[in-house]
Amino acid sequence: MIMKYLFTNDYSEGAHPRILEALARTNMRQEIGYERDSFCLEAERLILARVGNPAAAVHFVHSGGMANLVALASMLTRAYESVIAADTAHIHVHEGGAIEALGHKITLVAGLGGKITAEAIRAVMDKHLPDEHMVLPKAVSLAHATEVGTIYSLAELEAIAAVCREFGLYLFVDGARMGTALVAEGADITLRDLGRLTDIFTVGGTKNGALLGEAMVVNNPALREHFRRHIRQRAAHVAKGRIIGIQFAELFADDLYFDLARHSTSLAQRLRTGIARLGYKFFSRSPSNMSFPILPNAVIEQLQAAYGVYVWRGVSAEASVARLLTSWATPVSAIEQLLHDLEKLS
Ligand SMILES: Cc1ncc(COP(=O)(O)O)c(C=O)c1O
Repeated sequence: MIMKYLFTNDYSEGAHPRILEALARTNMRQEIGYERDSFCLEAERLILARVGNPAAAVHFVHSGGMANLVALASMLTRAYESVIAADTAHIHVHEGGAIEALGHKITLVAGLGGKITAEAIRAVMDKHLPDEHMVLPKAVSLAHATEVGTIYSLAELEAIAAVCREFGLYLFVDGARMGTALVAEGADITLRDLGRLTDIFTVGGTKNGALLGEAMVVNNPALREHFRRHIRQRAAHVAKGRIIGIQFAELFADDLYFDLARHSTSLAQRLRTGIARLGYKFFSRSPSNMSFPILPNAVIEQLQAAYGVYVWRGVSAEASVARLLTSWATPVSAIEQLLHDLEKLS
């Protein structure tokens, strides 16, 4: 069987070899459970050194959806409270109604290139606050990078944080794809900014070289208290939390986390440059490791014979938006081959 090269996701491989080595090296060491082990504590220390907020807490869960659920469960406490999110948000489209199953509505705003704006949040609050027939938003959830690969600027995040403060809204940043968002061309948000501006943000490992796992950085002292109970209640507490702790300790021991993200992101940029050179347009202005070229359906179908290509959505009877992802492990040769094949089909 001819193996296809998958551009479908950034988690199609296992883990970076350094992570596997760290897991093997520490395998026989006995540790206590539930993220009280020395590896989780070390990973927390390393992450917080970069966040610049030693008083924050870091918790580790196994998936991005789980992190979103736990974070929002800790923020939405009264039954009438809702979370504001973009209509393209992962929590709205791709999490099986998990947030709604908490008993809280997601108040949607039209995403601008996948992003939510401070003005849109203000407009929601102006409408909902005086009207007791409506749910009352208590949190804002945004993803960095977004579902369509775009990233927020520091000015945008500052404006969102300011409007959240004004209305007493918690700010949650879903960082399942935080690595690529931090290193993308033009990126000006740092982990320090996220520590200063958000109540909780996550740092995704699954999509950036880990076997699996997400780090949740809880900045707000009021949310830090009893946060572990929220983790426990959502069945998200991992007895062998060390497995995630070891991975994050390795990713943040030096610049590995950022280096892996730079690899996937720079290859995506190379891919976009090549695709643009062939005359194709893009659905979103993504600087991250996600690319969304608009291609003829016939071309997509032929590409799919040799590559994993996800069709994001149709744009006309003849063309669709393809979604192509690069990972920490994508070889340059795969990009060159794809561009070569695309040129032949064009
Ligand atoms: C922005 C974002 N958040 C959360 C998730 C969910 O992650 P998981 O599949 O690990 O639950 C994804 C997955 O694609 C995502 O892109």
